[in-house]
Amino acid sequence: MVLYSKLRAIVKKITERLLASNPGLPAALLRLHFHDCFVRGCDASVLIGSTANSKAEKDALPNLSLEGFDVIDEIKTELESKCAGKVSCADTLALAARDAVSFQFQKPMWEVLTGRRDGKVSLASEVLANIPSPFFNFSTLLKSFESKGLTVHDLVVLSGAHTIGDGHCNLFSNRLYNFTGKGDQDPSLDSTYAAFLKTKCRSLSDRTTTVGMDPGSSTSFDASYFVNLKQKKGLFQSDAALLTDRISNKIVGELQKSADFFQGIRTVHEKNGSNWGSYGQLRGDQKEVRRYQFLKSSYSCLVCLFHVPALLLNLVLFDKLVA
Ligand code: HEM
Repeated sequence: MVLYSKLRAIVKKITERLLASNPGLPAALLRLHFHDCFVRGCDASVLIGSTANSKAEKDALPNLSLEGFDVIDEIKTELESKCAGKVSCADTLALAARDAVSFQFQKPMWEVLTGRRDGKVSLASEVLANIPSPFFNFSTLLKSFESKGLTVHDLVVLSGAHTIGDGHCNLFSNRLYNFTGKGDQDPSLDSTYAAFLKTKCRSLSDRTTTVGMDPGSSTSFDASYFVNLKQKKGLFQSDAALLTDRISNKIVGELQKSADFFQGIRTVHEKNGSNWGSYGQLRGDQKEVRRYQFLKSSYSCLVCLFHVPALLLNLVLFDKLVA
């Protein structure tokens, strides 16, 4: 117990230190955690690098804008140096995401039960089929979440993660310039907000500019995503889609209250035990606690057999740490 609380404290300390120079870190880590969990479960498969023979998840199109790999590398390196093989890469990511989001509140916003194991398989070809697209409508979104054992309530609550972070213009500019192929605007988007977005995203071909997803509040983890959404200011079609279903629309209304949103977030993260979304649990020899990783992020959290001497040294130091 003492050991694990020390290891958790290490994750928190490093995350908070790195956050001071990178205010976008909570958004980056939360999204990285989500993209990990939706492909093969929360097993850190998103951290594995491609090889000459196999293109890994992180190199699939929806993952090219993911960030935070270097942060997980730094934390994991420190954990391994203190006590090798105890905290999996998947747990490291889950803890760091929680700690980064919680920093603004100075208290943990949800409990992270540890015990996730790291997968050994990471295939780019599995990403498109599992990570929902910003162009999804309500029924495709719900199908995606249900396929992971999640409910419509989970879908709406988790979409509230878009209260922090940014989106690239090309992922929503069809709503501004060419919604039905006739140079028109998405009627489900607030027209004043659309005019503002047009000042940021100048054309359909802008693939580099980013815009805060929660207008006026995109660095604060709060319920304002739902307030904006109700006012037709959801950035992606997938955000706006949450208003198109009667039940989901009602849940959006409820989550405008901070207390309900925070309670929802806590519940969805905690209800499935150690694996947020109990889908895709790994079994038998499909899993491991990856102990070492090269610092180069393309090899994040890969087992490195050359570090066996370091492992032995760590095992000797282990007793000293827990004492
Ligand atoms: C409901 C289906 C979802 C869709 C279609 C979706 C789609 C997207 C897209 C397209 C972006 C912008 C990426 C870019 O511009 O490069 C984004 C950003 C983000 N998403 Fe989602 N997302 C969904 C659910 C979630 C969930 C469940 C979480 C976490 C619990 C999440 C967390 C985030 C965060 C924090 C960002 C901002 C990242 C940053 O600024 O670094 N999303 N999402």
